Amino acid sequence: MIPKGIEKDMDYKLLTSLSEDTRETIESLLRGHNNSHNSGFFAARDLEENSPKPLNVVVYDKSGSVVGGLIAKTQFLWLKVSIMAVAESARQQGIGRRLLEMAEHEAITRGCRHAFLDTLDYQAPDFYRKLGYQIAGKLANWDSHGHTKYLFTKQLSIDSLPRPTDIETSEKSSRCMKSSTRPTYLGS
Ligand SMILES: CC(C)(COP(=O)(O)OP(=O)(O)OC[C@H]1O[C@@H](n2cnc3c(N)ncnc32)[C@H](O)[C@@H]1OP(=O)(O)O)[C@@H](O)C(=O)NCCC(=O)NCCS
Repeated sequence: MIPKGIEKDMDYKLLTSLSEDTRETIESLLRGHNNSHNSGFFAARDLEENSPKPLNVVVYDKSGSVVGGLIAKTQFLWLKVSIMAVAESARQQGIGRRLLEMAEHEAITRGCRHAFLDTLDYQAPDFYRKLGYQIAGKLANWDSHGHTKYLFTKQLSIDSLPRPTDIETSEKSSRCMKSSTRPTYLGS
């Protein structure tokens, strides 16, 4: 522990790059704090079975071209969606809804209870609202060009989703992706 009152002997530097040693020292200070306050989480997080698991849903047209998709991960109780897009010519036909509902269903089967994603005001906040997401926060002028980023969450529950009777599993995906426009899971 550094005694109080010796700050005058400290040397503060603004650096644009860090050596590996210096970075590691700073990170280990944080790790030490985290481990002493939340040891259960950090011990569990470092187990192989709890590492973030990819959850991707891709939709193909009849010729096998990608029409859209969703890229996400699950870890513990959370589904975290990072990217979602549908080709302009295929929008407004229910594909986006289907992609997200498939991801949510798979996340629930993996034990997730919450979903998180973010979107900019000119992207799809109203789409996510329609699918049951609620604003958890917003960051004005996120892009420094006047646009707001919205943080959305949703409580995941099997009761809130359509029955997945016709959802294909990753085992079946290779058989149907060329001949169907249905989305299929591409898992970890
Ligand atoms: C957002 C996106 C993935 C939605 O895909 P989609 O296939 O067009 O969506 P769906 O047809 O399943 O739409 C479901 C509902 O949401 C509405 N909706 C779709 N996109 C919307 C949008 N951008 N804003 C508001 N509402 C939207 C639809 O009208 C439909 O409403 P309804 O159920 O009342 O008929 C698609 O518009 C897209 O790729 N946008 C550009 C990229 C983007 O913004 N991605 C999201 C980044 S976070």
